[in-house]
Amino acid sequence: MAGLFITLEGMDGAGKSTHIPTMLNLLAASGREVVATREPGGTPLGEQLRELLLHQEMHVETESLLMFAARAEHLQQLILPALARGAIVVSDRFTDASYAYQCGARGLPLAKMQALESWVQGDLQPDLTLLFDVPVEVSLQRLAGARTPDKFEAQGAEFFARLRAQYLARAAEFPQRFRVIDANRSLEQVKKSVEEIILSL
Ligand code: TMP
Repeated sequence: MAGLFITLEGMDGAGKSTHIPTMLNLLAASGREVVATREPGGTPLGEQLRELLLHQEMHVETESLLMFAARAEHLQQLILPALARGAIVVSDRFTDASYAYQCGARGLPLAKMQALESWVQGDLQPDLTLLFDVPVEVSLQRLAGARTPDKFEAQGAEFFARLRAQYLARAAEFPQRFRVIDANRSLEQVKKSVEEIILSL
């Protein structure tokens, strides 16, 4: 049986991580192997790179290269073998986050990102991407009440506005794999939308 690759995306504060357990339970009920992972991270090396990426200021090119170094390791060690076994892989973020954060918010030229994408992942794209969307103010409000922010969470409204615009542009460009979820609703309502999407698979 072919594997299934599902990715979750959204601005910091959009609340995507809250819904992962529900999603994993529903997917596990299908009887298939489910592998939950995240980016940057997902492997021992990837988790070390995550520490650097989330807390160390660096040039956007360095940041993009390190994101894709972590992604190459993640794909080779975990994602591709799991998909080859026929598993369902659920990744909390993937390459759409690089387009949103490094290109949209930080200004890396799209052509450089496309070159990295094609080098590291070839033709592999997620089968389904859930984009948790909230207005910028909502995201900033939610983050204000949270723990000490990492370097991305500490950015201001303009950064978040560019980020959101790029995420929505990606969703419009790839409508066949994106599902945009209005995450500016009650937890119950968002959970219901997530359940509907997963059950329709
Ligand atoms: P999170 O997993 O808690 O959402 O944190 C990961 C952070 O890293 C988040 O702020 C988004 C950022 N990020 C990028 O900037 N580019 C990427 O390619 C990925 C995967 C994450």
